[in-house]
Amino acid sequence: MRYFIETYGCQMNVADSELVAGLLDGSGHRRATRLEDAQIILFNTCAIREKAEKTIHNRLSQLARLKENDPSILIGVLGCMAKHLSDDLLESKPYVDMVLGPDSYRRLPQLVQDRKAEQEHIVDTRLSRFEVYDDMFPSRREGVNAWTSIMRGCDKFCTFCVVPFTRGRERSRSVAGIVAEVEEAVRQGFVEVTLLGQNVNSYQYEGTRFPDLLESVAAVPGVRRIRYTSPHPSDMDDRLLDVMVAHDNICESIHLPLQAGSDRILRRMNRSYTRSEYIRLVERIRAVMPECTISTDIIVGFPGEQDVEFQETLQVVEQLGFDSAFTFKYSIRPGTKAAEYEDQVPDEVKQERLEQLIAVQKAITLVRNRTYVGREVEVLVEKESKKSSLQWAGRTDGNKWVVFDKESARIKDFVKVHIDTSHGVALQGHIINAVDLSCQEAYHAVG
Ligand code: SAH
Ligand code: SF4
Ligand code: F3S
Repeated sequence: MRYFIETYGCQMNVADSELVAGLLDGSGHRRATRLEDAQIILFNTCAIREKAEKTIHNRLSQLARLKENDPSILIGVLGCMAKHLSDDLLESKPYVDMVLGPDSYRRLPQLVQDRKAEQEHIVDTRLSRFEVYDDMFPSRREGVNAWTSIMRGCDKFCTFCVVPFTRGRERSRSVAGIVAEVEEAVRQGFVEVTLLGQNVNSYQYEGTRFPDLLESVAAVPGVRRIRYTSPHPSDMDDRLLDVMVAHDNICESIHLPLQAGSDRILRRMNRSYTRSEYIRLVERIRAVMPECTISTDIIVGFPGEQDVEFQETLQVVEQLGFDSAFTFKYSIRPGTKAAEYEDQVPDEVKQERLEQLIAVQKAITLVRNRTYVGREVEVLVEKESKKSSLQWAGRTDGNKWVVFDKESARIKDFVKVHIDTSHGVALQGHIINAVDLSCQEAYHAVG
């Protein structure tokens, strides 16, 4: 049968969808390029904020008609909404045939078969203490970057966050399994690897910790760039920074979620670091890697957040000058501790704070980007620019997008680009020369 997977949420879900695709390919199904052409339609869902869930509810409702026209179509809900919503989904959306949580994907091919035979709804949202899909290879679409999941679940229990409930306990994959997957990705032509986990730096497998794993991945021939996301500030250590400095193929770019700049709010969020510890950490990163870019996540309007406390967040943002920030209005997640707090912040206040924060960060991003004008940077060519078919878009080691005329460069080439201007979040420049062989050639030379 032909299948189609629509993916929502974070990169972990993107990686999981590729895993599911690998499973279905392996059992004789084929990927459809359009949802309309598929006999199996899977939605890999996200529950991080209310808006994400609403989007999926709406999208699922649209499938009802499709199912009416062709009852043989199988509709499955995977991922982070599965556990919380399994009853609700089957009651209000009876056309959904299967609900599978993030630890139940291994059963998918069998369940597809059973569902065909029995016409029963199938629900499996049990979470596992062990499942890491270590022996399975994802089916990736052709591209530059291979998302590689190194751990699953989360034990941090930040009071706002639903992930520990939707994805269960933290567990790490074996080093050998991860390295084998990276080697396979290189064989398939990928040149960049991004190691994924909700807390990548609390990775631990039989005594191997995250910095050691990073070294093992950096040693895989043909891996030109390595990124990782997201580390938790409390689990950062000097050894990790040393490993980043020591290996040219580990990008000097860190996504370091701050969440809030007030100690009282951080404590209430159960973030386990203080404002000054976070600031010192950023200073240490910059002392060791002056070129390292730092991005962050921030929540405004967490329950009980006073205006002065929001101002403290703004102060940290201004003091540290992040390269970019993902900013969110706090969203109540039923079942989490913060959902029970009685001092919820009104939406108008959250909205106002969000807009203020976005404006402050935007100005900082523009200033930081402007410092690149006149410089030469190494860019990995990744895709065609959205604005012009005559231009490429690629990223610097520090994760900045750069747009430039194609000239003779090809996707996966490393090129040296002179930055001429910076408009908005992207930099514009022109190619000076190709840095070295194209990666395709380098790959053939290695392999
Ligand atoms: N594991 C990562 C983040 C995972 S979720 C970490 O610990 O940093 C991505 C981001 O979504 C979080 O960093 C947080 O800023 C935001 N987020 C999580 N729960 C939220 C909620 N209930 N409301 C608003 N934003 C939320
Ligand atoms: Fe959620 Fe906190 Fe775990 Fe990140 S560390 S996934 S924010 S509970
Ligand atoms: Fe969403 Fe689940 Fe990721 S809740 S953000 S898809 S871990």
